[in-house]
Amino acid sequence: MSDLPATRVRCPDCGTVLDTSTAESACPKCGGLLAVEHEPALRGAALRALFDERAATAALTTNAVARSGVWRYRELVLTADDDTIVSHPEGNTPVVARDAAAAYAGLDGLLLKHEGHNPTGSFKDRGMTVALTQARRIGARAVACASTGNTSASLSAYASQAGIPSFVFVPEGRVSAGKLAQTVAYGARTLQIKGDFDDCLRLARDASDTLGVYLVNSVNPFRIEGQKTIVFELLQQLGWQSPDWIALPAGNLGNTSAFGKALSEAHAFGLIDRVPRLLAVQAAGAAPFAQAYADHFAQRISVRAETRATAIRIGDPASWDRAVRAIAATNGVVESVTDDEIFAAKAVIDRCGVGCEPASAASVAGVRALVARGVIRREERVVAVLTGHLLKDPGGNASHESTPPLTPDEALALLREVIDQG
Ligand code: F0G
Repeated sequence: MSDLPATRVRCPDCGTVLDTSTAESACPKCGGLLAVEHEPALRGAALRALFDERAATAALTTNAVARSGVWRYRELVLTADDDTIVSHPEGNTPVVARDAAAAYAGLDGLLLKHEGHNPTGSFKDRGMTVALTQARRIGARAVACASTGNTSASLSAYASQAGIPSFVFVPEGRVSAGKLAQTVAYGARTLQIKGDFDDCLRLARDASDTLGVYLVNSVNPFRIEGQKTIVFELLQQLGWQSPDWIALPAGNLGNTSAFGKALSEAHAFGLIDRVPRLLAVQAAGAAPFAQAYADHFAQRISVRAETRATAIRIGDPASWDRAVRAIAATNGVVESVTDDEIFAAKAVIDRCGVGCEPASAASVAGVRALVARGVIRREERVVAVLTGHLLKDPGGNASHESTPPLTPDEALALLREVIDQG
């Protein structure tokens, strides 16, 4: 083992090493996005046993850190004092199987890991608990992010818990009502910007550079560390037996990067003996990464994004290079699906009683597309991650049938008619 600290921040591009008290997202030398690296003292079966022991006792305590499905894996996330950690708690999300969803995808079986069961209704809470803990560790005066709505809702909640003022930049008229309501209610100063998400992110980076506000978009390396735990928790729920594929929706590519890093580490540290393949799925109108994948990542692409899955309406993804590494490390695939395919998959997921927001359904739509093309075989073991809760985007459910308002008598007559028809 090296004499470097057990956890450190490093630039994967030029190798510059910083200690974990840094407030930077980008390397001060070359501008590459920084990464957190770990040298855990335990490996393999001993590390699995430590995580299993914590999981077994988590439900029996009210201590947030001990319950958290993020801090359970702290040796591979961040070592911080319990008193500093800002935890709701988060994580511990279910894996469910529904025959109708599997049949829709064309598979013998399909598992859905539902990250919409996090405290603010999306996977963002996993990264935010770590980012706000880091904000406390470095004594940040204020925190900020750009968002399509879920990051901002999560930031707002965790910043309020931490007692740190927060500022969010959201694209005007493009954030669902549910997400905006959360963001405002939890207490963030919410600035609607004339522009799209990509404009908002540029603004957030400028604000961070010029005003010293701590940036907690997924370019922040500590966000990535928290989001890795979606994969660690999933692998643990599967008894540390790797599935063949893990599918997820992709926008700014922070989560794709986190999944790739988690799988590489899980393999390197002996938690699993085989790396599953990643399937990153973009909306066809916001698919620069899928376009570049088709061209072997010969060049970086940006587009003017348009999709009704507003969470992933992103044309110039920030975590590009590390997502390319994630796809390479997992022999992964990047796919794009149309809005119609996304909403058709969402309708199936909703009707199973599971439900998700539109962007989340891209994962299942992408699996279906790859099964149809013969890339995924029907007997393979596939997990699709649902990233956000159905109630996040009430407008996204407009396709579901509902009657106009009825009197009780009219309702009874309608019911009789429907039941009589069988
Ligand atoms: N699914 C949902 C529900 C999201 O909110 C996002 C991103 C993604 C998938 C894509 O993840 O950006 O890491 O590739 N939402 C961000 C936000 C952009 O601001 O809430 P990604």
